[in-house]
Amino acid sequence: MNEPINKIAVLTSGGDAPGMNAAIRAVVRACSYYSVECVGVYRGYQGLIEGDFETISARNVSNIINKGGTILKSARSLEFKTKEGRAKAYKNLKTQGIGALVLIGGDGTFTGGLKFIKEYNFPLVGIPGTIDNDIYGTDNTIGYDTALNTVVEVIDKIRDTASSHNRLFFIEVMGRDAGFIALNAGIGAGAEEILIPEKNIGLEKFVDSLNKGRDNGKTSSIVVVSEGDKIGKNVFELADYISENFSEYDVRVSVLGHMQRGGSPSCFDRVLASRLGVAAVEALLDKSTGVMIGITENKISKVELDKAIKMNNDINIELLKVAEITSV
Ligand code: F6P
Repeated sequence: MNEPINKIAVLTSGGDAPGMNAAIRAVVRACSYYSVECVGVYRGYQGLIEGDFETISARNVSNIINKGGTILKSARSLEFKTKEGRAKAYKNLKTQGIGALVLIGGDGTFTGGLKFIKEYNFPLVGIPGTIDNDIYGTDNTIGYDTALNTVVEVIDKIRDTASSHNRLFFIEVMGRDAGFIALNAGIGAGAEEILIPEKNIGLEKFVDSLNKGRDNGKTSSIVVVSEGDKIGKNVFELADYISENFSEYDVRVSVLGHMQRGGSPSCFDRVLASRLGVAAVEALLDKSTGVMIGITENKISKVELDKAIKMNNDINIELLKVAEITSV
């Protein structure tokens, strides 16, 4: 830990998120600014195990701030979950003279990083990159804002056809176990109902609320369902139940899927990623390790990786009330 850091490696792991390229660019350029060599690792932890490394210079990351996905590619490596896999990764890092790592990803990425520190005491810091916004220790994760805007744009389009045909649309959005996308995009797109895993309102209340809307003169409705929602087994089962029991509704389902992860990052995500990338390199040069760099109340913050993994980023349940009132 006391050796000077002359080479920093950066990787992206887990689900890609818009803004990851902006974060890579910031890491590379911060390295250049502080006269440290930067090495890109392809395909996340798998590339670490296979030694899939490439030196990246400041000019190599020109014109990527606006690009979705990740130029370093991403993967969910099963091999890194094994002791043998991690041993290979460590050997490769040492052979290349790499002194520290920047990990861009979510919970799974940080869990791998933490194991690596415990076994090898290898200096590393994390940057939260996932569209789910489900990471403790930062107000926003990279990609979340862009995903929200993508979802709102698509729901706006679905609303056009829903209202033209007087239909009830169930729209499933991503978020694995977290309802951030559903809740905020739902409010932003003026959804009639929002179903999230953090608060199971139950089938009865959901149906009551739907019928109330109809009785209040609504001829079409949008129900945003988070993929982790627990009311039905899944969005299709829920839609079938309504269709079979309430013939007055002409029901359709739209699963937005991976389109939510793509596209050019919003300005918000670009700025967030740039700030986090620079702060990650500065933290490593300052001898920080085992932490995730976040932004809390507009200030760079650090949280132990352990805490970032174990604790939940609490969703603001009160927003459901805003959704209820504004969809009356
Ligand atoms: O973690 C981000 C995420 O997009 C989740 O919202 C979603 O459940 C999952 O990844 C999908 O993963 P995959 O790309 O492996 O299907």
